[in-house]
Amino acid sequence: MIPKLELHLHLEGAAPPDLIRALAREKHVDLSGIFDDRGHYAYDSFAAFLRVYEAACTVLQTPDDFARLTRTVLERSAAQGVIYTEAFLSPDFCGQRDVSAWREYLHAIREAAQSAPDIQMRGIVTCIRHFGPDAARETALCAAETAGDFLTGFGIAGDESAGHPRDFAYGFDMAREAGLSLTAHAGEWGGAQSVRDALDHLRVARIGHGVHAINDPALVDRLAEDGITLEVCPGSNVTLGVYPDWRSHPIDKLRAAGVPVTVSTDDPPFFHTTMTHEYQRLSDTFGWDDEIFTDIARTAANAAFCDDATRAALLKRIGAG
Ligand code: ADE
Ligand code: ZN
Repeated sequence: MIPKLELHLHLEGAAPPDLIRALAREKHVDLSGIFDDRGHYAYDSFAAFLRVYEAACTVLQTPDDFARLTRTVLERSAAQGVIYTEAFLSPDFCGQRDVSAWREYLHAIREAAQSAPDIQMRGIVTCIRHFGPDAARETALCAAETAGDFLTGFGIAGDESAGHPRDFAYGFDMAREAGLSLTAHAGEWGGAQSVRDALDHLRVARIGHGVHAINDPALVDRLAEDGITLEVCPGSNVTLGVYPDWRSHPIDKLRAAGVPVTVSTDDPPFFHTTMTHEYQRLSDTFGWDDEIFTDIARTAANAAFCDDATRAALLKRIGAG
């Protein structure tokens, strides 16, 4: 099996419903409204998805809860053949952006990650766009204060229709100065211009999703020429309705145009997906074979927010060293 590398995974978004229900029982929180009768997360729009996501987060209350979550998520990823994963971490849900509280959560997440067998993890602090620029600045401070060999990146997720990337430039500048690598969700719901804005105002090395770049050939050329890696999550896009089906998804066209593309699950239980499932659908839909999946893994290793020794070891593991 070709080892898999995942660059775009929201830690809370990877929480299995069973874990969230167990925590809700333990803490006497009624979360019944966020599940359907089969026990899956229930939502019918992106706005509802964000509401359910944030409701699920209310039972993740302590550093130990996040350690439990990290262990569960990494065990599941490793079972899919994932050897390296970058997880988005949210100080908003970990001590409400208080730096000293955040340190405790991060410590617990890191300890859990470092004891996970067969998989390595790095953390990317993410601010949440619809929580606004002031919260983003506090989040960036949490990231800057804890930047290091485990916490290696900073990004932005959430509702792309809220505000403009320039509103978040201060936080990204702070993170860059602290040595963090940068990524931004863009071009998922927004058009090609939203990708241009993220590049111009936030000066990111990677784009989360970025799929709507396909509608702008000059932007496609820019991504290819500048080596801007897209963290593409096709199953997420199809389930949320960004594209009606796998056939219409632009990942194959972006790759053919020379854009560095990688494959991730985003929030796997929400989208009933796994890395294996994503690979299978890409193979079924576009005929992707082992050579292409090795190339995808190589692209991910080259774009990973890790040190050079880790990168070299990853490239060696995938036979591309
Ligand atoms: N947070 C978790 N998943 C997300 C997505 N697909 N888009 C934006 N923000 C998110
Ligand atoms: Zn995402």
